[in-house]
Amino acid sequence: MRRRAFIRGAGLLAAGMLLPIKKIFCGPTPAEEAILTWTELIDYARWCPSPHNVQPWRMKIISTAEAHLYYDPKRLPSVVDGTSAFSTVGLGMFIECLDIAARKNHIQIVASHANEPVLNAHAPDLQLFAKLYRVQTPAEISVDRELIKKRKTSRLSYDGKIISEDIIRSLTALAEKYGQQFSFSTDEDLIRYTIDLNSKTVLQRADEEDTRKEMGQWIRTTDEEAKEKKDGLWYKCNNISANMFRNFFFHHERFKSKWKRNFANHKMNKTMDGTANLAWITGPFSNRADWVNTGAMLQQLWLEMTKHDVYMHPLGTIVTTPSSSEAFRRRIGFNGPANDFWFLVRMGYSKEPPRSFRLETKDILMS
Ligand SMILES: Cc1cc2nc3c(=O)[nH]c(=O)nc-3n(C[C@H](O)[C@H](O)[C@H](O)COP(=O)(O)O)c2cc1C
Repeated sequence: MRRRAFIRGAGLLAAGMLLPIKKIFCGPTPAEEAILTWTELIDYARWCPSPHNVQPWRMKIISTAEAHLYYDPKRLPSVVDGTSAFSTVGLGMFIECLDIAARKNHIQIVASHANEPVLNAHAPDLQLFAKLYRVQTPAEISVDRELIKKRKTSRLSYDGKIISEDIIRSLTALAEKYGQQFSFSTDEDLIRYTIDLNSKTVLQRADEEDTRKEMGQWIRTTDEEAKEKKDGLWYKCNNISANMFRNFFFHHERFKSKWKRNFANHKMNKTMDGTANLAWITGPFSNRADWVNTGAMLQQLWLEMTKHDVYMHPLGTIVTTPSSSEAFRRRIGFNGPANDFWFLVRMGYSKEPPRSFRLETKDILMS
């Protein structure tokens, strides 16, 4: 009894040291309540994946019920994502993360989108993407929000295990709910062909100066830089030595000779040893509504894989390079509109990959 009274006393003392007396008795003001409510959600959503880990999102809190999502034009990779499709997918994924995090408290996030068909990478300031509203919902929580923090990209070698039919069935059904088709293959020839096509395409794109320059902004070749900037592609997450990563982007002339290219091609292929599962997604992907919809789906799919300890590694360079996209589509006999083939990944089981850095919640909040 005496021990319990002591603990209660110690708790009050600690709170007293952190909060002014008024706060202990009156509770937080509406403005403080709004910040607490939204930061709980942003603490999850900041772990959302984004192409090149650019994390273009910023949030302005208006009230407990409303916050505005902005994007930072300086963070959009406009050379490799000219239509802004994949940046929009990323922002759609971020909204989905906020929604999944809110569901625990029977709240859903409803988005009212800015009337901007394509993101403006050249705008001088932050741009409004959507107004977000917290709305009560009786809907049950369908996804454990802790999976948002657990999910990671694995660019390591995989262990050769084929993913079970049950998991593939649940991924296929999920995609269907969003009007998309999830296709899957364990064909060894197709997998070998795709990995090699990806490596060759990466080498080809790195020959383009504007692409290399844009990528260079997001390449983190030291641990200090990765930690300090809290964004971008850290060499450790890319399963490549710091030296090779630096030389590839900043001394690319060293990769001109045929033998060096063959060596790099071979090395890149090697990092993907053990890949036994390939998947691609097709479906409507031609405007902002499609990109937001597929973003929500991609977040759900990735968390479903994480739930089963399945990793994935997007092979986006094939998709965004017209000649490689065409070669892959021809290889799989896809006859739909070229635009509809928009996502390609290898999937499987690997050792736990390193965790990439993230901006902190305070960096995402706008004053
Ligand atoms: C829409 C989208 C496309 C992506 N494309 C690629 C890709 O082509 N190659 C790649 O290695 N990673 C790709 N990624 C993975 C991101 O680089 C990764 O999510 C980011 O670096 C953060 O790391 P994490 O997923 O381990 O948290 C993509 C992610 C998203 C959301």
